[in-house]
Amino acid sequence: MRIFSRNNVSKAFALSMCAYLISCSPDPSSPGVEYMPDMYRSPALEPYSGNSNYADSMEARLPVAGTIPQGYLPYGIPNSNDGYEMAGTLLKDPYPLNDAMVAEGKVIYSKFCIHCHGEKGMGDGATVTAGGHPPPPAYNSAALINLPEGKMFHTITYGKNLMGSHASQLNVEERWKVIRYVQTLQNPDVMKAADQPTEEMNAEEATPAETASVEETALNH
Ligand code: HEC
Repeated sequence: MRIFSRNNVSKAFALSMCAYLISCSPDPSSPGVEYMPDMYRSPALEPYSGNSNYADSMEARLPVAGTIPQGYLPYGIPNSNDGYEMAGTLLKDPYPLNDAMVAEGKVIYSKFCIHCHGEKGMGDGATVTAGGHPPPPAYNSAALINLPEGKMFHTITYGKNLMGSHASQLNVEERWKVIRYVQTLQNPDVMKAADQPTEEMNAEEATPAETASVEETALNH
């Protein structure tokens, strides 16, 4: 049998013309008859449009209880006075105090902190000088000069009085990095200690605990 007989070609042509005509619509904004419309029109629901599949009809769902987003580190210390004290003794900045870290911290500081704390951390940012807000204490003031880094982390995470929480703007890594920069504003001498490591810090065998205590002495110095 010849598939491409003249008869068959004209039948196929007539059939495709029919399909072409019925798939068109006089309405210029209508796509006409669509073959498998799910392929171009996603059945996904719009956010906040409501969803009858859920008892509360909420389309934007909360994460399942107990799950942790990728790349997110939970912070287990509670937002209380006891928690603040606990953070001061327990938490240590895991990042080294060196020029590279301080440079990264400075970038974060100039975006998120400078407008209140001022360029040198003297509590004279634009919100104070131009906006008339009460000044934060200077980082090198008697109140803050010996502030443990764990307390800084706690304050940046939860906020304290007039300073709001920065947990949604800065991840854990960024909070520790900016603390490294704050420490140089608190006391520029910490960089001298960082540039001249003690013998213990040079020792390759030094355990993290030893290194931390050396670092701590350097910071409080
Ligand atoms: C809206 C202004 C504002 C911004 C923005 C701000 N701070 Fe503060 N900060 C304050 C004030 C006010 C205080 C004093 C809080 C108090 O002790 O009552 C403070 C206190 C602090 C302290 C001392 C915390 C303590 O435990 O006593 C540190 C450290 C600090 N800020 C660091 C930062 C860093 C780092 C950033 C940027 C990531 C930042 N702040 C952003 C206003 C601000």
